[in-house]
Amino acid sequence: MKYFELQHTDLNVSQIALGCMRISEMQLEEVETLIEKALSLGINFFDHADIYGNGKCEELFGQALAKHPEWRDQMIIQTKCGIVRKQRYDFSKEHILSCVNESLKRLQVDYIDIVLLHRPDALCDPEEVAQAFNQLIDEGKVRYIGVSNHTPGEIELLQSYLADPLIINQLQLSIVHSYLIDSSITLNMSTPYSIERSAGVLDYCRLKKITIQPWSPLQATREEGSFIDNPHYEELNKVLDRLAKKYLVNKSAIAIAWLLRHPAHMQPIVGTTSIQHLQELAEASKVTLTRQEWYDLYLASGKILP
Ligand SMILES: NC(=O)c1ccc[n+]([C@@H]2O[C@H](COP(=O)([O-])OP(=O)(O)OC[C@H]3O[C@@H](n4cnc5c(N)ncnc54)[C@H](OP(=O)(O)O)[C@@H]3O)[C@@H](O)[C@H]2O)c1
Repeated sequence: MKYFELQHTDLNVSQIALGCMRISEMQLEEVETLIEKALSLGINFFDHADIYGNGKCEELFGQALAKHPEWRDQMIIQTKCGIVRKQRYDFSKEHILSCVNESLKRLQVDYIDIVLLHRPDALCDPEEVAQAFNQLIDEGKVRYIGVSNHTPGEIELLQSYLADPLIINQLQLSIVHSYLIDSSITLNMSTPYSIERSAGVLDYCRLKKITIQPWSPLQATREEGSFIDNPHYEELNKVLDRLAKKYLVNKSAIAIAWLLRHPAHMQPIVGTTSIQHLQELAEASKVTLTRQEWYDLYLASGKILP
């Protein structure tokens, strides 16, 4: 596993992080085995949200941690707040404070390394967000802060009120779901890929040294699930297979290597619950795709180069 220093922090983080959104149906022992495997592969970064499994994901993780307190110092724990499922997004001071306090209890930890605002709240008052974050940082409950699914404008506005830098923007990105990249490649053309969905967030984050964490790095669409071995993505799987054979890794590792090859130094969040899949994915860290291979994968997913 390779590591890098998260910008604006003293945290040395693994290139690949484990997302814990899908662990709610697992037995505690299985969660323990998954975390143990991740740590043994060198993965030291774990992503949560208060809403994953309605709190069950943090709860199971916390129970595993309580059985292995020695793990806490080896890991960086990130969680998110701000979504009240199917009702509203809520960045009020009161809601942020109560979410983080509940997450601390469920995770059974004294502090959370990084807290992200999960999705932009249309009614966000940045002054309230700043009050909540300042309090949590002053109390030693949170070390660093960031956002998820936020535009450059939203980040600028928030940042202008905050004492501490926003260090992360977690965004959906995979070879197939590559809107953050497509609109730049096809700027000002009539193709649908030219439609600007990203608000230039990729370049903005690079400029501001905000680390991008691609979420769902193996997913095509919500309906289709993963593009790995998916017959709708035959051409892509052919190229993944060719490169997997060249680099002696699995196809999923090549899909993660595609994200790692981007010069923005992104930190993909993989969401597998399978020990075998995790082991295969971790191998991405040893693959550096050539420029041509990166473009071969991009084209094989159906995109165009004008
Ligand atoms: N910020 C946000 O708005 C947001 C939204 C969604 C997710 N996230 C974060 O991103 C993380 C990752 O999202 P995700 O779970 O959708 O990511 P993912 O890694 O793209 O997808 C994982 C899913 O793909 C399956 N899969 C199929 N073939 C696989 C293969 N060969 N190797 C590995 N997995 C394979 C996994 O099944 P198995 O379990 O059987 O391997 C699992 O169900 C989440 O855990 C969460 O932390 C953030």
